[in-house]
Amino acid sequence: MQGIRLLVIPGSQRNGSLNKRLASVAVKLATNAGATVDEMDLRELQLPVYDGDIEAASGVPPSALRLLEAIMAADAVLVVTPEYNGFPTPLVVNAFDWLSRITAGGAHPAGLAATANKPIGLLSASPGPLGALRSMNFLRQYFQMAFAMIVVPQQFALSRAHEAFDEAGGLKDEKALRAVDGVLAAIGSLANALRAARLAGPTGSGVTR
Ligand SMILES: Cc1cc2nc3c(=O)[nH]c(=O)nc-3n(C[C@H](O)[C@H](O)[C@H](O)COP(=O)(O)O)c2cc1C
Repeated sequence: MQGIRLLVIPGSQRNGSLNKRLASVAVKLATNAGATVDEMDLRELQLPVYDGDIEAASGVPPSALRLLEAIMAADAVLVVTPEYNGFPTPLVVNAFDWLSRITAGGAHPAGLAATANKPIGLLSASPGPLGALRSMNFLRQYFQMAFAMIVVPQQFALSRAHEAFDEAGGLKDEKALRAVDGVLAAIGSLANALRAARLAGPTGSGVTR
């Protein structure tokens, strides 16, 4: 992950969130691997539930631009989320729904232009036996089809997450730690490959633009 700027987005911000804890593990691993990591607290954005009347009356809430700017600044994104009834959390979906409504203006591109071709990786955690795996299946489709993001094939669901962390916040299971590392490595490789392709230019001439 050397030289990669990674944006980490937990899908739950409640006190004691297991996914926030898993996100912290990923932040540490990515930082140790040479990445610059930014963390986004979606709850801080205080976005209302998407409503076309709010949008018609006052536009997209300005705080949604903070998500746009964070995505623009990042080489890659990591979302770490629980599932509610088999589905990604409203915190994630609502924030990205608002993002998708941002049109180009001033110094910034449209929300969907900022996400296009951006690598993204997925982690999930829950106390259950499947570790919120289903949330990632939906998010894979959501980010790829609606946001044109490139979702890395590697993903990891942390099952029995309430028993998975030690006192220091680390993962007790070495295999789980390696799986998180594997997802980060896949994100880093993809981000580097895309950067190299951009530098090579459309003809592969090596000319930078
Ligand atoms: C509305 C709701 C629905 C839930 N549905 C599921 C579910 O489908 N699968 C699952 O594994 N856990 C489910 N849970 C339990 C969550 O995985 C658990 O609360 C988890 O700790 C939430 O993640 P967090 O600790 O990061 O906040 C649900 C919890 C809530 C509040």
